[in-house]
Amino acid sequence: MTVGKGRVALVTGASRGIGRAIALGLAERGFDLALNDIPRQAKALDEAAAAVHALGRRAVALHADVSQKIEVEAMVEKAVAELGGIHAVVNNAGILIAASVETLAETHWDSVMDVNAKGTFLVIQAVLPVMKRQAYGRICNIASIGGKHGAPQQAHYSASKAAVMGFTRVLAQELGPIGITANCVCPGIILTDMGRVNLDDPAIRNAWAAKTAMARIGDPEDVVGPVAFFCSDDSAFVTGQTLNVDGGIVFS
Ligand SMILES: NC(=O)c1ccc[n+]([C@@H]2O[C@H](COP(=O)([O-])OP(=O)(O)OC[C@H]3O[C@@H](n4cnc5c(N)ncnc54)[C@H](O)[C@@H]3O)[C@@H](O)[C@H]2O)c1
Repeated sequence: MTVGKGRVALVTGASRGIGRAIALGLAERGFDLALNDIPRQAKALDEAAAAVHALGRRAVALHADVSQKIEVEAMVEKAVAELGGIHAVVNNAGILIAASVETLAETHWDSVMDVNAKGTFLVIQAVLPVMKRQAYGRICNIASIGGKHGAPQQAHYSASKAAVMGFTRVLAQELGPIGITANCVCPGIILTDMGRVNLDDPAIRNAWAAKTAMARIGDPEDVVGPVAFFCSDDSAFVTGQTLNVDGGIVFS
């Protein structure tokens, strides 16, 4: 994997699950890390930052709610002040609140859209001046196969992830001329705290495993390689794409 010297990556929602695995995976591949999460996750975020540090990379833990513009701007400013730039950004922070369309509360629609879709926009808007100055940037947005085919109880979540994919395609077109690529990774069924909402029942877990070509659900580490590819120089001529990382559920 080709990662330039002194590269810095910002990963949101990095205290646990897929985000933590991505942060550690990028550190293993040579990135210094700005790790973000909400204040409630401070202890876990500090532990993730310490794990990055133990791999010999610089790490800074930044508390911010990605749906709050002021907090996002302060986070980006601090990351640049501490680490000198941001070369790759992984918009991973996300929430899922299961509810049928009939019972879905308007507040839950809003909070899922605010974190998953608006949060992605706010982080990119704050990071863009930095990447423009560098004339270089790699954006990897974590969407979901749910944004492609949907799932019952996830109307708002699916809509938010479809929004992330549409947003990313436009980013690719607007930012390509200035040396910035933007791509999406769409995880399938991954065993994390979020994933456990669906997967605590072994029968449901086995049913999902049976739906994959690989006959298993995923671990957070399964998502790392594809994200690292989009964050590296190996993907220099790839932009505006969505890559399913689902063990073979969605074939498109
Ligand atoms: N687990 C799956 O099966 C699966 C499948 C497809 C997509 N995804 C996506 O992958 C990403 C990571 O999910 P995960 O399974 O690791 O979930 P998770 O719940 O374990 O981790 C999500 C992280 O995001 C953080 N977060 C939530 N709201 C935030 C906010 N407003 N600001 C900053 N951080 C915030 C959480 O505190 C948490 O650390 C999400 O975007 C999710 O939608 C997950």
